[in-house]
Amino acid sequence: MRVLGIESSCDETAVAIYDSSKGVIAHAMHTQIPMHQEYGGVVPELASRDHTRYIVSLVRQAMREAGCEPSDIDGIAYTAGPGLIGALLVGSCFARSLAYAWGKPCIGVNHLEGHLLAAMLEESAPEYPFVSLLVSGGHSMLIAVKGLGEYELLGETLDDAAGEAFDKTAKMLGLAYPGGPKIAKLAEQGRPGVYNFPRPMVNRPGMDLSFSGLKTHTLQTWLSSSQSEQDRADIALAFQDAIVDTLVIKSKRALIQTGLRQLVIAGGVGANAHLRERLQEMTTELGTQVFYPRLEYCTDNGAMIAYAGYQRLKSGQRDGLRAQARARWPLS
Ligand code: KG4
Ligand code: ZN
Repeated sequence: MRVLGIESSCDETAVAIYDSSKGVIAHAMHTQIPMHQEYGGVVPELASRDHTRYIVSLVRQAMREAGCEPSDIDGIAYTAGPGLIGALLVGSCFARSLAYAWGKPCIGVNHLEGHLLAAMLEESAPEYPFVSLLVSGGHSMLIAVKGLGEYELLGETLDDAAGEAFDKTAKMLGLAYPGGPKIAKLAEQGRPGVYNFPRPMVNRPGMDLSFSGLKTHTLQTWLSSSQSEQDRADIALAFQDAIVDTLVIKSKRALIQTGLRQLVIAGGVGANAHLRERLQEMTTELGTQVFYPRLEYCTDNGAMIAYAGYQRLKSGQRDGLRAQARARWPLS
């Protein structure tokens, strides 16, 4: 079975083709990051317009790369939410229309489900059930994943998402959007132990997270420093350490509390090398395993949408003729 997947929920237009016997056979994508950088964050209207500009050529590119004709495709999947409504509408209307024109089944996929299942595209793939740490620009959650569509929320952020905290903090420190990779790079020059930032919520029971206080603490530290390059790097390191530590502590708690033996990382913050190292140490100590998607499947991509769509279509689900788009769409 071959599924064409289309992602357009935020600032990446991405198209991929998943083949159930060969894996991902095409992956085309266009990032809008340079366009939004000028404004310090994603401008929704510009995002929608840019998706319309690239979506057709990316589908053509993916079809060419896979050597596929429309008759070789068995279904079309698209991101139906959550995300920016205008951006979602571009992908959903286009995917639904293409499926109608080609006479193929079509399915709207939850973007978060795409992230949750992305590690299953790897050779060393997790098996249900597992704990997922989903940390992206819009979401931070710990979820017990029991099977396709069987998701139990263990904890989530009460305010900013981890990626959002990285992005906002980076902006305060005068770094460009998206802030996560910039802070990670700068932290390499930071001196350990110069600052020690609070680890939010770790003394409270449960697996909820909160990053907005840490962001404020970081800003105050920056404003009361001499604002030199070395200060910036020291603060970036202290901030990254605090976020990573918190995520490691809460993930450990989730593994112990559920008794599950596999931790699966998902979402853009999962690309953070320090987080990966620390989770590796923690899971090894616990005698459990950690699984990651490759870096390009951590951030937004079409492969995870094609794969989630494949799983849904295989189980017999398909949508009616209506193109779906939901700005908010909880996993449950
Ligand atoms: O999953 P994603 O591509 O988009 C959403 O669905 O939100 O995640 C984007 C987020 C951004 O906030 C970005 O700053 C963060 O992931 N990110 C990182 C790293 N690479 C991307 N955060 C920390 N360290 C990184 N290396
Ligand atoms: Zn995402």
